[in-house]
Amino acid sequence: MDRARNPYTPNAGAPPRHLAGRASEVDDFRTLLRRLQRGYTEKSLVITGLRGVGKTVLLGEFQRIADDENWVAVETEVSKTTRFGPQMANLARRALLKTSPRARWSDRVAAAAAVVKSFSLTVQPDGSLTGGLDIAAEPGTADTGDLNEDLADLFEAVGRAAKAQDRGVVFLFDEVQFLGKPELEALIGAVHRTVQRQLPITFAGAGLPQLPGLAGDAKSYAERLFRFPTIGELPVEAAVDALVQPAHAEGVAYEDRAVEHIVAYTEGYPYFIQEYGRAVWDLAQGRSITHADATEAQTFVEADLDESFFKTRVQRSTPEELRYMRAMAELGPSPQKAADVAEVLGRTSEQVAPLRARLVSKGLLYTPRYGFARFTVPQFDRFMRRYMDLDAAPPA
Ligand SMILES: Nc1ncnc2c1ncn2[C@@H]1O[C@H](COP(=O)(O)OP(=O)(O)O)[C@@H](O)[C@H]1O
Ligand SMILES: [Mg+2]
Repeated sequence: MDRARNPYTPNAGAPPRHLAGRASEVDDFRTLLRRLQRGYTEKSLVITGLRGVGKTVLLGEFQRIADDENWVAVETEVSKTTRFGPQMANLARRALLKTSPRARWSDRVAAAAAVVKSFSLTVQPDGSLTGGLDIAAEPGTADTGDLNEDLADLFEAVGRAAKAQDRGVVFLFDEVQFLGKPELEALIGAVHRTVQRQLPITFAGAGLPQLPGLAGDAKSYAERLFRFPTIGELPVEAAVDALVQPAHAEGVAYEDRAVEHIVAYTEGYPYFIQEYGRAVWDLAQGRSITHADATEAQTFVEADLDESFFKTRVQRSTPEELRYMRAMAELGPSPQKAADVAEVLGRTSEQVAPLRARLVSKGLLYTPRYGFARFTVPQFDRFMRRYMDLDAAPPA
């Protein structure tokens, strides 16, 4: 087919031509905004799932819904090196300026700006994050230096400004698993404050299945304010749509057997569907995409996936980490007991525990339940088995 018209989007965060199978999450988010706008309470959403299932795409969709509902959405991606306080100062400043441009500030917005400035100077005393806030900081608000207190003050102020404008503000955080426990707790506490005040402001997010070590009280508290829906592989019907609809919109059809082959190979994982769709589109010569095209494309798809998706995950791993993951791959795709992986390596659990902890902290593994670990990347076991032999040195 004409490569210039290839409708597939195998890139991180790239909005697909056809957003398949996410109607309920989209609907929940719209409902959340509408309820908060009316002063009702509703649990916010933190979407969790493995890599490549469409979390970032869904956050992008949330952004569009927010625009559509006349809310202000400010998006950010958390990383291990992000300094949370300054990041929040910046987001709040952006949110406020988007809620109402400087020239049209009412008293309410000006009061919120003074609080944002106060928060900003507390976390970044050199004033480098106060652009556009040419107003005196509000003493005694958001300036204790205790993140819990100050963030709640910040949310409350921005929420009041939004409400005065008949709007709402939502902070959208990607890669939430990189937030530390104190930061996540502060965020949860801030949302709690705004729920008590019935203000139209919240945060929603997406991240790997494991949220940062929240336990005990913090956890039950979080569960009263948030839902953590998991998204994953698409059910067959949605997987078929994700594959077929983009081509259909370009006037190209698939043979049923081609669809069956691709859906089976990809197991409904959105990223794999996009990668397969792109490859088979470029390869097909006829008027439609045939079963022969689909089977022929598979080797290219596998090579592309290795280059674009899998290898980038292992590039910063040490040989010991690679050997650990290879041993785990030997046991299959499901969550594996630490002791079983250690046994494949001929070591004890204690000996390999630091390795495992490092892989969790790098985001390559997560622990779905105590004593078990699972790959955060779908079909990673298959990749590791083709990438290296169990008892050979890892590729250089
Ligand atoms: N619902 C969907 N339907 C079809 N394709 C999707 C869907 N969600 C995501 N994709 C595609 O899957 C890939 C991964 O999406 P992304 O949001 O980056 O995943 P994640 O953030 O979970 O790693 C992208 O190529 C995107 O175009
Ligand atoms: Mg993502």
